[in-house]
Amino acid sequence: MRIFSNLAISLDGKIATRSKKLVLLGTQEDHKEMQRLRKQADSILIGASTLRSFKKPNLVFGTKKQPINAILSSQLEGISPRWPFFQEPNLKRVLFVHPKTPVNRLKRFEKSSELIILRPPAPKRSAAIQIAQWFDSQGTKNLLIEGGGGVMWDFTQARLIQEYHVTLTPQLIGGALAPSLVDGAGFLPKHILKLKLKQYRVTQDEIFLIYVPAQNP
Ligand SMILES: NC(=O)c1ccc[n+]([C@@H]2O[C@H](COP(=O)([O-])OP(=O)(O)OC[C@H]3O[C@@H](n4cnc5c(N)ncnc54)[C@H](OP(=O)(O)O)[C@@H]3O)[C@@H](O)[C@H]2O)c1
Repeated sequence: MRIFSNLAISLDGKIATRSKKLVLLGTQEDHKEMQRLRKQADSILIGASTLRSFKKPNLVFGTKKQPINAILSSQLEGISPRWPFFQEPNLKRVLFVHPKTPVNRLKRFEKSSELIILRPPAPKRSAAIQIAQWFDSQGTKNLLIEGGGGVMWDFTQARLIQEYHVTLTPQLIGGALAPSLVDGAGFLPKHILKLKLKQYRVTQDEIFLIYVPAQNP
């Protein structure tokens, strides 16, 4: 299975401001690129904070066949089944959650979504590894990770992302608490993930970059 990511960043590597409110960093060109990549995906995964800011499904425009829309959350806190994400007809939704999620909360999502209870994480059984195995077992060939930084960390740490698509946008956001391309605990020097530039394209003030891991992950 191919796992690839696509996010837009500011020049200082941020994907949103510290308020975590939805801001579209890219131009129309970036939105077109996002659609182009979504068309390649059978499944799209985002983190719960991204859903909390966007609340809508991640759709491919101009087609009936939509990728599976999946969310990773520890306990579905602050997520409402009334949001547009859960109302879109003919969309397969999957929620990956931890075993401690209260049963009455799970029940609120039963009708709209498939609920996958992850096993407690262990060194070779991180959430990302379990999620990748699940998608693989379902026949997903192309899994697109659309962020944010929390989910990106899980997949990056497990060396599961084969292509990092990044749109570098001409703005500075700043702020130690603003989410960035990859957050989480971060690597120590000897584990830093080295990448190779596979492709780039400059469009006015934006640069579309594709990086791949320097060694096989
Ligand atoms: N510029 C872009 O291209 C782009 C792309 C995506 C998102 N964004 C923005 O980025 C912000 C959100 O990014 P973020 O980094 O804060 O969050 P995120 O990665 O979207 O979500 C983080 C959340 O995901 C869940 N999660 C992550 N790893 C988990 C694990 N191992 N087990 C269980 N749950 C796990 C947790 O959910 P719970 O809190 O429910 O436990 C965690 O709080 C939003 O403002 C969004 O609009 C921008």
